[in-house]
Amino acid sequence: MAQRYGILAFPAGYSLSPDIHNAAFKALNIDAEYDVFDVPEDRFKDFMKCLKIDPVSGLSVSLPYKENVLNYMHVLDEDSEKIGAVNTVVNRNGVFHGYNTDFIGSNRALEEAEGDLKGKNVVILGAGGASRAIIYGLLKAGANVVGILNRNKERADALAEEFSKMFKVNIGSDSLDDLAKRKPFSKKLEKGNSILIQTTSIWTIMPDMGEEEVNEFCPKEYVQVFSTVMDIVYNPKMTPLLKIAKNLKKKIVSGDRMFLHQAFEQFKLWTGQEPPVAVMEKALKSKLE
Ligand code: ATR
Repeated sequence: MAQRYGILAFPAGYSLSPDIHNAAFKALNIDAEYDVFDVPEDRFKDFMKCLKIDPVSGLSVSLPYKENVLNYMHVLDEDSEKIGAVNTVVNRNGVFHGYNTDFIGSNRALEEAEGDLKGKNVVILGAGGASRAIIYGLLKAGANVVGILNRNKERADALAEEFSKMFKVNIGSDSLDDLAKRKPFSKKLEKGNSILIQTTSIWTIMPDMGEEEVNEFCPKEYVQVFSTVMDIVYNPKMTPLLKIAKNLKKKIVSGDRMFLHQAFEQFKLWTGQEPPVAVMEKALKSKLE
């Protein structure tokens, strides 16, 4: 019988994970199918219960379940436990193993542009679930997370405090208000080799933002400080922030790279095989362009 995998999310219909994983299974002649599990929040508990009767070999987990799904895992790897979120489930003989490949994806995407991340100075926009995995990855790679900026400052403060303690470092935190007039967290950022990473869901929530609103969220004057700008949103690939960064002649890293790298790691965990990288890249490209 074909093995079954799928993305668990709500809404899940927009996801391009089925396109890239199904292309990969086909390319390697693996008898498996990757479905969409579009599960509303009031059905989540039932869905997890049903997995015992009608099992899957593995899951990708996305919003809003990355944290909740953790409670249903029999085994958690160290990284997903520290991040507090699971984006990959592997079913090994009825035992659910939880992993997080998001931080590996973000590190690899950045390393493609920057090389070794050790000692690089980074500012993060956003303090949600995605931000947690990215900050964890950066700190694990020895990067210097200088600060976290978030609309809701308390959330940025809490995240900065939690990871400062975990890694024995000193992460700053602030709100997004009046960024244009504000100095960046540290003089170090102005010396080059500094990275700005956009982790919020703003482009997905408000796809039709005008130039003025974009500039209010992240002003040109602030972007100007950094040498590299990364956005984790992959659809659209060229986000409003990346357009600003490109115009300012900054190095840019688009969200499709992180998305692909986290998927390569998922594929390895599920199949134990090396992913067909070019096939997966092509499958995504055909959907994004
Ligand atoms: P995710 O797992 O994608 O990070 P999340 O935990 O809901 O999802 O976090 C969403 C992030 O996007 C948060 O940093 C959120 O800011 P708040 O904590 O202030 O809510 C940010 N975000 C969403 N919409 C935003 C907007 N219009 N302007 C600025 N930030 C926004």
